[in-house]
Amino acid sequence: MLVLGIETSCDETAVALYDSQRGLLGELVYTQQIHADYGGVVPELASRDHVRKLLPMLKDLLGEKGLVVDDLDAVAYTAGPGLVGALLVGAGFGRSLAWALGLPSVAVHHLEGHLLATGLEVSPPEMPFLALLVSGGHTLLVRVDAIGEYEIIGQSLDDAVGEAFDKTAKLLGLGYPGGPEVAALARQGDASRWRFPRPMVDRPGLDMSFSGLKTFVLTTWRDCEAQQRSSTRREDRNRDKADICACFEQAVVETLVIKCRRALQQSGMQRLVIAGGVGANQALRAGLARLAEELDVGLFYPQPGFCTDNAAMIAFAGARRLQAGEFEETRIAARPRWDVAALQAPGKPRTSADTNRLQVGSSV
Ligand code: KG4
Ligand code: ZN
Repeated sequence: MLVLGIETSCDETAVALYDSQRGLLGELVYTQQIHADYGGVVPELASRDHVRKLLPMLKDLLGEKGLVVDDLDAVAYTAGPGLVGALLVGAGFGRSLAWALGLPSVAVHHLEGHLLATGLEVSPPEMPFLALLVSGGHTLLVRVDAIGEYEIIGQSLDDAVGEAFDKTAKLLGLGYPGGPEVAALARQGDASRWRFPRPMVDRPGLDMSFSGLKTFVLTTWRDCEAQQRSSTRREDRNRDKADICACFEQAVVETLVIKCRRALQQSGMQRLVIAGGVGANQALRAGLARLAEELDVGLFYPQPGFCTDNAAMIAFAGARRLQAGEFEETRIAARPRWDVAALQAPGKPRTSADTNRLQVGSSV
């Protein structure tokens, strides 16, 4: 079965072709540049850019692979959570294409895409596993027992980790998205210059908090700026930025490692999966690799391009649901707020309670 995957939930426009027998045939991702001047995603601009890019990208991808739309067997698109206008572009496009070609389509939960993305790798993890899902909008510890059976056992009570990276970058005048820029500067910095807080690690439980770290970045940077005024050396300014990035990154990594250790010990899980954009961070991967070795658990992560938003994970998750007999009728689904723990295993009848939960937010 050849599945077209479509992702437009935020500022990446992405298309992918996943074949249930042959695996991933190809994929394209375009990261929107129009938000750079604003330091964050502007929803209306994101929707307009998806409209501009989606069809040409699909044409290019099919052309690259020597395929035509008639070769497709199904369409999987991200239905939420995300920006409603951006979601509607992918949902309207995907569902209409499926209808015109007489194909089944399936509405995919973006976080399910992230959770299952290691399925695209050569040696995917068996279920059950514990997933650390760290993205721009979510920081979750999830128990994954089977497709559609997800239990959130810990989460950030305020900022997501990716958001903390992005806000740190903004405070220091770096580019957007900030995560990769902060990570690159951190490699040149001295992580022992200050000790940034490791939030909520001395409290029991698996919940987290990252908004305080951002305030720490702000006050540290203000102190540095005050001292820079008495110096004319430009290197001091750059060194201060690199040191802040290194201290910040180390605090984030240590906090996540402590929470993962606790979650693995409490749940007895033998496999740990890192998912979401911040999963591309090398320091985080190294910290979790040391933990996994110490606890003798398997560690799995997608290649960096499948940690950040992409359509390959959406095509893959959609294919798994379609193979289990799930598809939608004429409905076009866009659910800006959608609880991943409310998902069901494919093919299971939904209870009215689930249906009510699924329809929180706007459902079109
Ligand atoms: O999963 P993702 O692409 O989009 C969401 O679903 O949110 O995650 C994007 C987030 C952004 O906050 C970005 O700054 C962060 O992932 N990110 C990173 C790295 N690459 C992306 N954070 C730290 N280190 C990285 N190498
Ligand atoms: Zn994402």
